[in-house]
Amino acid sequence: MTDLQKLISEITQLNIIKAAFSVPYKKDELVKCTLRPMGEKYQFESFTKTQAFHENVEKNGLCNKIISLLTDSFRQAEIFTEEYVYGIKISSKGKVLHNRRRNTDVKKEDSNHNREKNHIIDLDNAPPVLCDIGVIGKDGKIINSRYDKYKQICRFVEFIDDVVKKDPREEYNIIDFGCGKSYLTFICYHYMTEIANKKVNIVGLDLKKKVIEDCNALAIKYGYDSLKFLCMDIKDYNPEVRPDMVIALHACDVATDYALYNAYRWQADYIFSVPCCQHEMNGKVKSDDFSLLCDYGLLKERFSALATDALRGKYLEFCGYSVDVLEFIDIEHSPKNVLIRAKRTTKINDKKRKLIKDRIDSFTKEFNANLCFGSLVFQNCKEFEAGNEKYSLVVGKSSMLLKDALTVRNAVFGNEQNYKAGSSRDKDDDTAWFAGIYDKEGRAVATSRMIYLEEKNERLLGKIAVLADYRKFGFGSVMLSALENIAKEENATKLFVNAQKGALGFYEKLGYEKCGNSYTEEDIEMIPVSKEV
Ligand SMILES: C[S@@+](CC[C@H](N)C(=O)[O-])C[C@H]1O[C@@H](n2cnc3c(N)ncnc32)[C@H](O)[C@@H]1O
Repeated sequence: MTDLQKLISEITQLNIIKAAFSVPYKKDELVKCTLRPMGEKYQFESFTKTQAFHENVEKNGLCNKIISLLTDSFRQAEIFTEEYVYGIKISSKGKVLHNRRRNTDVKKEDSNHNREKNHIIDLDNAPPVLCDIGVIGKDGKIINSRYDKYKQICRFVEFIDDVVKKDPREEYNIIDFGCGKSYLTFICYHYMTEIANKKVNIVGLDLKKKVIEDCNALAIKYGYDSLKFLCMDIKDYNPEVRPDMVIALHACDVATDYALYNAYRWQADYIFSVPCCQHEMNGKVKSDDFSLLCDYGLLKERFSALATDALRGKYLEFCGYSVDVLEFIDIEHSPKNVLIRAKRTTKINDKKRKLIKDRIDSFTKEFNANLCFGSLVFQNCKEFEAGNEKYSLVVGKSSMLLKDALTVRNAVFGNEQNYKAGSSRDKDDDTAWFAGIYDKEGRAVATSRMIYLEEKNERLLGKIAVLADYRKFGFGSVMLSALENIAKEENATKLFVNAQKGALGFYEKLGYEKCGNSYTEEDIEMIPVSKEV
């Protein structure tokens, strides 16, 4: 057995809390690697200059994995066990140099953290499900390797508590995107039901089938009947009811963007998101004027993370949220410690939106930072020209679009046609998609909507209202085609319109065909038409 094998085999007998590998043998390959326990396994996160890779290793493979890292990839390692910190260096001649010191941090935490009373979840009253998911041991103490996670979920709930205390609503619908083993989801359920005394429906969502099965089994075991877990991609989820709150703790990379985008398009009132691994930006960021920020792998990675979250905050502001970016937790408990906290507001005006959009655009241009959340928001917000004037098309589910649709519908169906069914607000407006066309002053000149029908794959488009002076530009078909695209994205297969008879030719040109008998509504002859998509 070599010196290295002997040393690592001794260390891996102990309880390893974390490790970091550095000083690569070869340039242009891995730049660093970290190790942390993940349940029964250990996760290695290796970084090249532009990407991160994850590998989970069983306890019995740990020794060989560390030896191979120190033989092939890195000259240096710092390995933390509960009692000691081991510093290891491989000299240029291959000699193994090592030292050991007491791990005073863990001792300090150890003596404190099992008695901490100042967390919102008091250990003496912590829900037993925390034992099942491996946060608390049978002795009622926090398991050492889970201490950081415990800190994080308590802190997260404290942020939720800040708003719940001030919000008088009695019932909350909450979605936890990328819930993983659901430490946060369970603790949030406990907080809502036992501490805040609210009625709550929580959905935890993750891609991992087995983890979701286990979480559902635990929800049943503890009679948490308004907590359920779904195995599904965040992209594909459509909630049955509008969520009051969307939470996401360390949802990887663009999973955070889909979580934020969903929260926006369902108009969730509160969003709490602690993002992680902002690879998307790191993979594409470049700049002529600020190239220094992108020259060194480590700085580029950190800058990309900050820039991504700065953009996410601004996209949310553009979408009508008031946003704070806060330190989530001390860096010693997680380097992923930025919290994006957002609250839906109706206060944003068009001038402010334009200003935000301009700032986003110039940042995006400077850093080549066309990011997922931005594309999702702005694919539904396009500028175009008609009659030598600039207009923008906005598609979404926002209260702003609803407000503007009601104004335009009132002008067209109400004042012009005296057609109440067209102008008035109905319950479908609460869940509808809207398309609106805005002139350069930000005034809505045309609007339309798409609603959900009972058949899951069917949609009804309609309430196309275009102000009189703007009827020559084809705005009706611009809006319809934007809404049809959304329907396709949501996997709808059939679209319906209740057309006014005078507009039948317009719909036929767009591929719609009569699909039912004509009828009269408030003296207007209507004909149902449909088309497959
Ligand atoms: C780093 S873990 C965080 C888990 C948990 N929130 C926590 O803090 O312990 C990220 C989780 O997001 C999930 N995830 C990533 N992309 C997803 C997607 N598109 N849809 C659903 N879940 C996703 C992963 O499966 C993983 O469990």
